[in-house]
Amino acid sequence: MFTRQSYLLGLAASVAASPALLQREYNTTNTSMVYSFKDVPVTKDIQYIPCFDNYTCTQLDVPLDYEDLDAGYTNIAFQRYEAAQQPALGDIIFNPGGPGESATLSLMQLLPQLLELLGDSYNIIGMDPRGINNSGPLLDCFDGKPWLRDYYYGQLYDGVDPRSNVSISNYYETSGTFGTWCTQNLNKTAKYANTPATARDMLQYAELLAETQGKPREDAKVDFYGASYGTVLGTTFAALFPDRVGKFLIDAVVDGDDYYHGSWSQNILQGDASVDAFFKTCAEAGPLCAFYRNGSTASDIKERFDAILADLEEDPVPVNDPLFVEFPTTVTHMDVRGLLQTAVYNPPSLFSILAAVADGLETRNGSLAALYASKGIAPGTSKCDYTPGGTDTVLPKEVIACNDNSKSFNGSEEALFQLFAEQKKLSTYLGDTWPMAVVPQCRLLDITPPKSQLFAGFKKINTSTPILFADNVIDPVTSSYELMSGYFEGSAILLQDAVGHGLVVTSSNCTSSYVQKYFKTGELPPRNTTCETEFDAFPLATGLQKRGLASHHPLSRRHFAL
Ligand SMILES: *[C@@H]1O[C@H](CO)[C@@H](O)[C@H](O)[C@H]1NC(C)=O
Ligand SMILES: *[C@@H]1O[C@H](CO)[C@@H](O)[C@H](O)[C@H]1NC(C)=O
Ligand SMILES: *[C@@H]1O[C@H](CO)[C@@H](O)[C@H](O)[C@H]1NC(C)=O
Ligand SMILES: *[C@@H]1O[C@H](CO)[C@@H](O)[C@H](O)[C@H]1NC(C)=O
Ligand SMILES: *[C@@H]1O[C@H](CO)[C@@H](O)[C@H](O)[C@H]1NC(C)=O
Ligand SMILES: *[C@@H]1O[C@H](CO)[C@@H](O)[C@H](O)[C@H]1NC(C)=O
Ligand SMILES: *[C@@H]1O[C@H](CO)[C@@H](O)[C@H](O)[C@H]1NC(C)=O
Ligand SMILES: *[C@@H]1O[C@H](CO)[C@@H](O)[C@H](O)[C@H]1NC(C)=O
Ligand SMILES: *[C@@H]1O[C@H](CO)[C@@H](O)[C@H](O)[C@H]1NC(C)=O
Ligand SMILES: *[C@@H]1O[C@H](CO)[C@@H](O)[C@H](O)[C@H]1NC(C)=O
Ligand SMILES: *[C@@H]1O[C@H](CO)[C@@H](O)[C@H](O)[C@H]1NC(C)=O
Ligand SMILES: *[C@@H]1O[C@H](CO)[C@@H](O)[C@H](O)[C@H]1NC(C)=O
Repeated sequence: MFTRQSYLLGLAASVAASPALLQREYNTTNTSMVYSFKDVPVTKDIQYIPCFDNYTCTQLDVPLDYEDLDAGYTNIAFQRYEAAQQPALGDIIFNPGGPGESATLSLMQLLPQLLELLGDSYNIIGMDPRGINNSGPLLDCFDGKPWLRDYYYGQLYDGVDPRSNVSISNYYETSGTFGTWCTQNLNKTAKYANTPATARDMLQYAELLAETQGKPREDAKVDFYGASYGTVLGTTFAALFPDRVGKFLIDAVVDGDDYYHGSWSQNILQGDASVDAFFKTCAEAGPLCAFYRNGSTASDIKERFDAILADLEEDPVPVNDPLFVEFPTTVTHMDVRGLLQTAVYNPPSLFSILAAVADGLETRNGSLAALYASKGIAPGTSKCDYTPGGTDTVLPKEVIACNDNSKSFNGSEEALFQLFAEQKKLSTYLGDTWPMAVVPQCRLLDITPPKSQLFAGFKKINTSTPILFADNVIDPVTSSYELMSGYFEGSAILLQDAVGHGLVVTSSNCTSSYVQKYFKTGELPPRNTTCETEFDAFPLATGLQKRGLASHHPLSRRHFAL
């Protein structure tokens, strides 16, 4: 949940939210249930088989390059949650972001939220994009040694502090050498893991699905829900195949021009607004917020929080309580900024924790901060003490994002200095951490997709069905709905009154009903609609009590995603 290691754009942090509404009877008559995509045959056509108890799975054999079949083939994994009523109105392909997050996994983790948002009349499909989790081509720079990989990731961003030029120079070189290393070690097929190719795979799915229903392939349309980086995938599809756009919900909207340029410089436009929401909601929550003091206003809270950061910039806090760390360590202002960066993705799950961390730090007690920032904790560093299940979202993110931007960002050291400076101006709270999202890794990662998989950019077009764009009123990392909606004639924007990344951070009957009406009838919400929600940044039932502190590893080492 909290991590300081790598910033992505995705819904991973939203997984902890849980408005479970839907009750369903599952067919447990269990014929040949499979629990791994290794047991799902790779086929040329769609052949769903029962999997993971409540789902069906299929794997398609698709060309690495649809324009050059000699390049070979790879497998794409699809996991389907079937609508209660069959025949369903269609199959919504879901993408949770990243790039790098596994849609098959997210489908299982976010199912209640997805059903609440999308309703139960469409099948929902988690499709792992190319290079991610169950889909090929395999991306690996660490020779099949995940313990080494995770150890490496654990220290990749350690000690980066943009207040020091030496530190930025060092980061420039360490991230560059990561690119060189991976260029040496990646399979040559890695260049085919990119967004335009994944968009083409979605069309392939829709066409094959039409075929199974006895409908013409060339009329098939894709229905889609993408959040965060998923909005890049969705808008890319719409730009490439405008007459194949079915219902498209594009939520937590990334600036696609900026993404393809590779600078990731237009993300934290509302970064400070999202942190201000922490101060404001803490004041409103009163004693439910551990950082609240009797009579505090939002600006009192902000002042105390800023004082903590200023103190940490001068003096990191030592941590040596064995209940919280395995070896002595310090908590720095960058660690706390990393926690902030994560917490604003999902306030209802993470603001209580952030408040408790701040409460401790105010008296220079960094135990909780260390715990949640995974400081003073050793990852498994050898094959023997490695716990499998560690997810590699880092490398797929780098490879896909770098393939997509074809090094269009000026990779000079000077440009990196400038980027840190500009981001700090955009957001004083998140500007130090965000430039670690992706940029410098691409510099020396020497892979380039084939011509047929290079994206030519967005321009204003019509789509066969108007697109529904959506976002929270305050989204810390993706708020470019006006810009992207402008590229698609007839599209509409639906906002919901909440803070966080993705519609699923909270419940809203208003949002759900507009979304479901759109998927059922194509009808868009009225212009300028902002939905009320049940957003509550300090809900009674979550936070520390529920999560518990017994374990040394209460929060997984996750990575930020778009
Ligand atoms: C289905 O069968 C598998 C093995 O055949 C078993 O492990 C699993 O628990 C069963 N699932 C259900 C829901 O009965
Ligand atoms: C449950 O699934 C099995 C195998 O797919 C099928 O034979 C059976 O009819 C289903 N039962 C119900 C109640 O849907
Ligand atoms: C399947 O559904 C049942 C009932 O809701 C749930 O307990 C179980 O965890 C689900 N299994 C998976 C793999 O999602
Ligand atoms: C750090 O680098 C920036 C950009 O190159 C430069 O403007 C600044 O003077 C440097 N600061 C120090 C202390 O050298
Ligand atoms: C590269 O990947 C392809 C397809 O997954 C595989 O067949 C091939 O053996 C791999 N090559 C190397 C050198 O690992
Ligand atoms: C809170 O502050 C008010 C006014 O400053 C004071 O009257 C009240 O007793 C305080 N309450 C507590 C619990 O400290
Ligand atoms: C520091 O905070 C932790 C977590 O709240 C607490 O368990 C511990 O007792 C505190 N340490 C000191 C020295 O107060
Ligand atoms: C990949 O998907 C499987 C289920 O198919 C899941 O158990 C696993 O956690 C996922 N791994 C990653 C890296 O997302
Ligand atoms: C990149 O930026 C540097 C410093 O701003 C400049 O000297 C160089 O010409 C630029 N390179 C390209 C390819 O634009
Ligand atoms: C979209 O379609 C409308 C109606 O046919 C047309 O007037 C408009 O020029 C089209 N827009 C673009 C960008 O092609
Ligand atoms: C939202 O809809 C659910 C189900 O229809 C209902 O139980 C609930 O009261 C509604 N909530 C609000 C705030 O209207
Ligand atoms: C949308 O609504 C807000 C608040 O009602 C208003 O200030 C704004 O001008 C409206 N924008 C448009 C484009 O209609």
